[in-house]
Amino acid sequence: MKIGIDAIEMDTPDFYVDLVKLAKVRGDDPNKYTIGIGQDEQAVPPSSQDIVTLGANAAAKVLTPASRASLGMILVGTESGVDASKSAALFIHDLLALPEWVRAVELKEACYGGTAALMMARDYVASHPDKSVLVIAADIARYGLATAGEVTQGAGAVAMIVKADPRLLTIEPDSVYRSASINDFWRPVYQDTALAQGKYSTEQYLAFFKTVWERYQADHHLSAHDFAAMTFHLPYTKMGKKALDLVLPTTDDASAQRLKNRFEASTRYCRQIGNIYTGSLYLGLLSLLDHDTTLQAGDRIGLFSYGSGAVAEFFSGILQPQFKEQLHAAEHAQQLTKRKELPVPEYEAVFSDKVPYDADDYRPDPAYYRGQFILTGVIGQERHYEKHQS
Ligand code: COA
Repeated sequence: MKIGIDAIEMDTPDFYVDLVKLAKVRGDDPNKYTIGIGQDEQAVPPSSQDIVTLGANAAAKVLTPASRASLGMILVGTESGVDASKSAALFIHDLLALPEWVRAVELKEACYGGTAALMMARDYVASHPDKSVLVIAADIARYGLATAGEVTQGAGAVAMIVKADPRLLTIEPDSVYRSASINDFWRPVYQDTALAQGKYSTEQYLAFFKTVWERYQADHHLSAHDFAAMTFHLPYTKMGKKALDLVLPTTDDASAQRLKNRFEASTRYCRQIGNIYTGSLYLGLLSLLDHDTTLQAGDRIGLFSYGSGAVAEFFSGILQPQFKEQLHAAEHAQQLTKRKELPVPEYEAVFSDKVPYDADDYRPDPAYYRGQFILTGVIGQERHYEKHQS
């Protein structure tokens, strides 16, 4: 039985900051940001948007009456969850008025949580072939103003429907995964900004990629030549490029050029949105599918997932005959075009106006209300969400 992604959609805040302008304010050479790191713009979420609203906004676009009716599970992968106990999947379940007879769970392992959810969905459909699973990977990446990681922040969500006989991409049963406890990146529960040993985390990303990719090739007798495209977890686009650069010398010139061209297509949304942690690999997949018009049904796409801490997984998917009908590139272009640029001082003010880590009541600024679902306040330590017509 074929199992995989039947539909995929994204959401990102309607505000962004230009990274060339940010570099100038920070006293950095803009080329460091746009070439050295490989980022041009960064999504800025107002405090009325969190992983619940971003996830619900993305999921609303991907759900159909048929997928609602067959829904067996809602899985949310995130490392910027809004509660240490209650699953974000339940808030989203409520906002979208989803059926009662489902499992709703949140999964965490840094940027790997979305892949964990996808694989759990795949295994669930294998034993429940008539069911579909809503998989959401949503995150807000925050390192702090004027930190080394600031240029690699971002916000967004990707939602996918996983089912039997998918119209978009199969998930092949060829995963190779590896886990080891390391301290390259983490976030203590008392703060909303991540801590990272930046250089060490990039070294570990590459070391994990090298080992799982070598084992994948040995286990499955496949090499770079067999892939139409390879996509990577993109904390920033240069990180994925460094991983791809380990692959290119091992293949023929034509394959190397094909993989380079399609890698570039997979990085375009990340360049504009930034790091969305768990969703970033899948935003890269969507960017590839939206921007490359030469891909064909039957093509094999490689996916490399990395979550600091760390777990890494390499697997592949095969494009299905109807895949082009499942894409909505024009709508995504429009969503990005209609975003409002925030000058750096306003970005800093929006970044600093956040739901506090204490028991005080809090209400976001309605001037920044955007999207179908919003957080209207945290009152008596309970979060309140509403449907909002923007
Ligand atoms: N023009 C072009 N490139 C420039 C440049 C300029 N003027 N100035 C610097 N660069 C390049 C550097 O050569 C370097 O490229 P390289 O990595 O290919 O050698 C790159 O820009 C980054 O410069 P660097 O000095 O290493 O940046 P940094 O010390 O500010 O740290 C990160 C960069 C990514 C480590 C930092 O942003 C970070 O900690 N991010 C969060 C952690 C993370 O994302 N980890 C990823 C694994 S999940």
